[in-house]
Amino acid sequence: MTYTCILVETVGDGPRKTGLIRLNRPKALNALCDPLMDELGEALAAFDADAGIGCIVLTGSEKAFCAGADIPSIKDLDFLSAHQGGLVSKNWEHVLKVKKPVLAAVAGYALGGGCELAMMCDTIYAAESAKFGQPEIKIGVIPGAGGTQRLPRWVGKAKAMDLLLTARMMDAQEALQAGLVARVFPTEGFLDEVLKVAELLNAQSAPALALMKEMVNQAFETPLTQGVQAERLAFHAMFGTHDQREGMTAFLEKRAPQWKHG
Ligand code: CAA
Repeated sequence: MTYTCILVETVGDGPRKTGLIRLNRPKALNALCDPLMDELGEALAAFDADAGIGCIVLTGSEKAFCAGADIPSIKDLDFLSAHQGGLVSKNWEHVLKVKKPVLAAVAGYALGGGCELAMMCDTIYAAESAKFGQPEIKIGVIPGAGGTQRLPRWVGKAKAMDLLLTARMMDAQEALQAGLVARVFPTEGFLDEVLKVAELLNAQSAPALALMKEMVNQAFETPLTQGVQAERLAFHAMFGTHDQREGMTAFLEKRAPQWKHG
């Protein structure tokens, strides 16, 4: 498959590799347009279906992870064309359907839809250079890809309101303190650090990874009792699988487990 708005490669030496997707519209700071979102959906689905891939890293460039929705291509929409044309709803949420962990690796700007896309990933790693924000108010709109809903869940209402109403940007250290990002790495060599994290994930049992991410993401959707029940069912379902027997046996035999990913 040839892509024009993204760059796709596999990285790693182990039996399961990392699917690396780079947003690549440098002249528009990786702004999100229909062709990019369609390509991203295809690349994510292909990596998700590939048994040789353990997890996926989504990144941008040094200057910008992504500066949000492509403003020229949405500027002249009216309500009906935005609504019936499926702006955002049509092809922006592919990342939510991926069963494997998706790590956002953010350097530079992650603004508007860019910040929202990062928040759709399972976790976010930031370079010191990262700047997060929801500046939609400055262009006369509000976020449309979850910014008003996910940001308060990640950073709390007070900081989300502050960011959304003022359109100010938050640097990597503030994002770390606020809980938006998992870890911050020096800008130089930042992607290599995220790829090292991805390697750790690739070495885990695939069903455990998939259930783990699904359960954590459920915590954002369900009441506690229901979430704990779902977790217990998933936990019980793992007993009797090869990887459960092997993982526990290997621990007792003081050796590394040999996963069959089932
Ligand atoms: N869409 C399309 N093109 C964009 C863009 C966007 N969101 N953001 C930047 N660009 C383009 C600029 O137009 C410029 O192109 P030209 O060189 O052809 O003029 C190029 O990228 C470089 O941008 P700047 O010259 O502005 O670079 P800068 O370093 O001075 O500023 C910035 C960088 C702070 C990110 C600034 O570009 C900016 O504020 N961009 C807009 C961010 C924004 O408002 N995002 C929200 C979009 S709406 C949205 O995302 C809705 C939603 O929730 C789904």
